[in-house]
Amino acid sequence: MFFNSLSGRFLLLTIVFVMLAEVLIFVPSVARFRADYLQERLELAQLASLALLATPDDMITQELADELLENAEVLNIVLRRNEMRELILSKPLNAPISDTYDLRDAGALTLVRDAIIVFFPSEEKIIRVIGRPIKGAGLEIETTQYLMPLRDAMIEYGRNIFFLSLLISVISSAMLFFAVRSLLVRPIRRLVGNMTRYRDNPEDATRVIKPDSKVIELRAAQDTLQDLQTQLTAHLKQKERLAQLGEAVAKINHDLRNVLTTTQLLTDRIEMVEDPVVARIAPKLMKSLDRAIKLCENTLSFGKAEEPAPEITRFPLVGLVSEVIEGEGLRLNGDGIKIGMEIADGVDVSADREQMFRVIGNLVGNARQAILASGRDGEITVKAKSTDTGTEILVSDTGPGIPERAQEKLFQPFQGSVRKGGTGLGLAIAAEIVRGHGGTLKLAETSIFGTSFRIFLPVQTKPE
Ligand SMILES: Nc1ncnc2c1ncn2[C@@H]1O[C@H](COP(=O)(O)OP(=O)(O)OP(=O)(O)O)[C@@H](O)[C@H]1O
Ligand SMILES: [Mg+2]
Repeated sequence: MFFNSLSGRFLLLTIVFVMLAEVLIFVPSVARFRADYLQERLELAQLASLALLATPDDMITQELADELLENAEVLNIVLRRNEMRELILSKPLNAPISDTYDLRDAGALTLVRDAIIVFFPSEEKIIRVIGRPIKGAGLEIETTQYLMPLRDAMIEYGRNIFFLSLLISVISSAMLFFAVRSLLVRPIRRLVGNMTRYRDNPEDATRVIKPDSKVIELRAAQDTLQDLQTQLTAHLKQKERLAQLGEAVAKINHDLRNVLTTTQLLTDRIEMVEDPVVARIAPKLMKSLDRAIKLCENTLSFGKAEEPAPEITRFPLVGLVSEVIEGEGLRLNGDGIKIGMEIADGVDVSADREQMFRVIGNLVGNARQAILASGRDGEITVKAKSTDTGTEILVSDTGPGIPERAQEKLFQPFQGSVRKGGTGLGLAIAAEIVRGHGGTLKLAETSIFGTSFRIFLPVQTKPE
């Protein structure tokens, strides 16, 4: 429906408003027209009556009187010059006078009311009009005249005004219609067109809107839409990358498990070698391989990025942290980095041991990499203490601190890494695992003097 469109609505409203304005102008101007018309007759009558002055006894022939009256378009004229003298031009009336209008003190409302009344009678009437003579030529002038000529003139005038109003409203509505079309409707259509194009392929960055409007409100809408589309496109691309990565990881995982299993079989053989060094190393190698295989299997069996639910057991923390330190120590070869711990023997935790190994391993690993990258010597310390509500583990280092860029999205996968060769997964994995235990992993502090991460593991209440 045309009138439900923006241009249609504007067209309709403009016609209504302009007509309303015209009505408000119409009534007073018709009233003014009537007053002017009557005043003009009074002035013509005054001029006609002056002919009487030229005669010595204010008397003229009836023919002349009729002619003067006809010229003035009235039936009778009475001009009162002063208290004593009246000039009268008259001819007999064929009907009584039906109304008298005094123009001398008529207010605006009276004029409007009298003008409206004129439109109603349909038969001829005689009216009397009283006014003030012009140029102070007397006290009062009074005429009688037929009503119909006045009515006809007023109808003619009204009709003219009506058609003029109609013309004005059509022209102004048309102008507004085209203005609205070019200022509003077309830009809105373009906006919708862009949205539709973008919707069809939101990954195509060339379809993001390019704001160009000079109208402030439209420009704001375009800018917001541009932001929205840019963010959405970036998110979709990121998702796409993650999906591809996920697939790649699953494939690698699948074959890696086979490779590791072969390595495990070979290690089994090595265990049989009767060499004291081999005997010491082989069990550790087996354990490492075990861990790697389990990790592959878990990832494959869950088939998603989430960590599996923790298998909670109670174990002494010292043993676990020693294992981490030992593993990390293997990666150091005289780098000037010391890794140690300050944990009392009695500190036990209830957690998934393998998962906690990965959490502390990631934190210590990050610290080692940070110190190494700084090119200075440094220390890494793992501390822990039991509290009433759980266990608090602090992993501190004397490294260079976390770069500001990395701090913003530290725990978000693929976002926090600023390290060359880093994937930005380590802290995300660690935080997710700790959350899975109902605990928290937080950055306790970081500065040029070092960094500390705090893990809090609540006391596990075993389900009944
Ligand atoms: N102890 C630390 N000292 C200084 N910077 C750190 C420390 N721990 C983390 N960071 C910074 O935080 C970033 C994110 O760490 P995260 O473990 O999530 O990813 P990554 O180590 O870069 O990659 P990944 O662990 O996946 O191989 C690192 O790139 C590093 O810049
Ligand atoms: Mg890391």
